[in-house]
Amino acid sequence: MAIITFPKAFLWGASTAAYQVEGGNSGSALWAWEGRKGWEPSGEAAGSWERFDEDLACLKSLGLNAYRFSVEWSRVQPSPDRFDDGALGRYVGWARRLQAEGIRPFVCLHHFSEPSWLLELHPEGWLGDSVPARFLRFAERAAGALKDDVADWVTFNEPMVFLVGAYGMGHFPPGRRLLVRPRALAEAGARMARTHNEAYRLLHRLRPECRAGFTQNVAALDPARPGDEEAVESWDRFMHRDFMDAARGRMDYLGINYYTRIFVNRSPFSPLPGRAVPGYAELQAGVGRLGYRLLGGRRGEGEPTDMGWEVHPEGLGRVVSALWREHGLPILILENGIADASGLRREAYIRDHLASLASAMRQGAEVRGYFHWSLVDNYEWGSYRPRFGLHSRDRRPCPGAEFYGRVARSGEFEVHG
Ligand code: BGC
Repeated sequence: MAIITFPKAFLWGASTAAYQVEGGNSGSALWAWEGRKGWEPSGEAAGSWERFDEDLACLKSLGLNAYRFSVEWSRVQPSPDRFDDGALGRYVGWARRLQAEGIRPFVCLHHFSEPSWLLELHPEGWLGDSVPARFLRFAERAAGALKDDVADWVTFNEPMVFLVGAYGMGHFPPGRRLLVRPRALAEAGARMARTHNEAYRLLHRLRPECRAGFTQNVAALDPARPGDEEAVESWDRFMHRDFMDAARGRMDYLGINYYTRIFVNRSPFSPLPGRAVPGYAELQAGVGRLGYRLLGGRRGEGEPTDMGWEVHPEGLGRVVSALWREHGLPILILENGIADASGLRREAYIRDHLASLASAMRQGAEVRGYFHWSLVDNYEWGSYRPRFGLHSRDRRPCPGAEFYGRVARSGEFEVHG
């Protein structure tokens, strides 16, 4: 039996996103999109817009000292020339209540959801030059209101996942399918990175000592077979590292969302950078079993989660160590979690990922915090079936919550062997 101990000042948090928990975000482009795609309606979601008291109670019952939530752009700016001070005031109130309870608010300014008016005015979205200025205007207003109560900012959540979803695979509005032209996506990524850099400057102008960054979804990548190393390298650059490189000097921390490992192979039929075939479950589902086999893809061996993702805790430590060596910036794990309707796999998932994180820290990586995805079950972009919550939507603790709370309170846990 060994004990793994985390530093005293370590941040133990949970993350949510406005559109996934608040409910009733009818001003978002996603609202009508749900119907067009035949998605399950998000409806009231977890009701967090009205039930912040209960969310706060969940955070307190777990003993967490940090909470990451996002501000819904379409609430704060319901039309191009109108800001809603009432909506902003509600977010300010949340930040104050969190602070009063010793829970540090981390506020994200863009978590996939954008106002419907934005795409009506600028149908080309992030493929064109108009959206960045619109986003910065919103960011200035939102951060201007929150700056006295919030010192930790996440400009963009998973920019590359968002771009591939919205402009590559047609999953999010505006529903473009340009995956066959990855250069267009890379250009949109560069534009978004420049916008992040502007937002970084803006946030520091508003509050010089604040800490700002973005969070990148980083999968652990392995070559499917010997000879696939170059495809791995190309995909890693395209999906993970190019954006981080473009934001060098404009990040106070490195934000990482880690869920899984994927195998990458090279196929002459792939239009992607390096002719890579990245083995995401979503891509496999998109091209079908046979298509995926024709592309030479390889699946992970472990028992998949309810999302079809391989559980691979070692990958978290590996990713953290590599990015620490590359950037030398403090690291925050801003999402990590498992879709598991039974809830029975969550404790082991958390334990094994924290052990992997701790081993990267022992080897020198400076990691400041771990935020579990998610505080409550929520809207998983089209469906309520995947359950990522430490609590159900009626705020009952799920299996695994008790364990996470114990770790957060004590800063340590036992491992066998
Ligand atoms: C996103 C969340 C999502 C989670 C689980 C992340 O990619 O930031 O919005 O719910 O993963 O899929």
